[in-house]
Amino acid sequence: MRCAVFASGNGSNFQALLDRKSSGDLPHADFVLMVGNNSKAGAFERARSNGIATLHIAPSHFLTEEAYAERLSSALKDAGVELIALAGYMKKLPPAIVAQYRNRILNIHPGLLPAFGGQGMYGSNVHKAVIEYGAKFSGVTVHFVDDEYDHGPVIKQKVVPVLDNDDAQSLAARVLEAEHECYWQAIEAVAAGRIKIEGRRVTFLKS
Ligand code: GAR
Repeated sequence: MRCAVFASGNGSNFQALLDRKSSGDLPHADFVLMVGNNSKAGAFERARSNGIATLHIAPSHFLTEEAYAERLSSALKDAGVELIALAGYMKKLPPAIVAQYRNRILNIHPGLLPAFGGQGMYGSNVHKAVIEYGAKFSGVTVHFVDDEYDHGPVIKQKVVPVLDNDDAQSLAARVLEAEHECYWQAIEAVAAGRIKIEGRRVTFLKS
């Protein structure tokens, strides 16, 4: 499947996907486009140095959400994008894009949904909230994107312990490592058609 990666920041998840692609672990996904809302995002440089087309686009560039959605939609169509992976993308996708790519947009969240998710729960906010709550475990959730924040069907989760001396930074680093282990597996399974979706339940089929 032709895959677009959306990223707003450093792009270490994007890099982990590129590395898995190079090592042959992602035969069913081709990364053809990187989309970002922040031109300073490290993910742009990672895309360029891997010969992947980039698109800098943000809702603030447009007068209406419809105009933004139309431009994004036509760019995705032009690039022949069939699957979207949000990898540290901090903007909500317009409903028109979500509808167009139903069950073909994946997101990675740095926590165990449905806890510590929803609007405002991204990046270090998640890790701070986990530590303040006193949770003993956090982790990673890869899920399909629907119209609500951090809500669509869960594809894969991985548990990460919270240690007594953790701060948001040390927990983030441990969770990020687990993210890099998890995301490519979910993307490869979806791209290869190796999953079954029944309501909210996603199961992996044997290859
Ligand atoms: C990752 O931890 C990712 O899960 C999180 O942002 C970080 C991006 O790191 N995403 C969200 O919080 C989205 N709600 P990266 O740029 O190094 O991949």
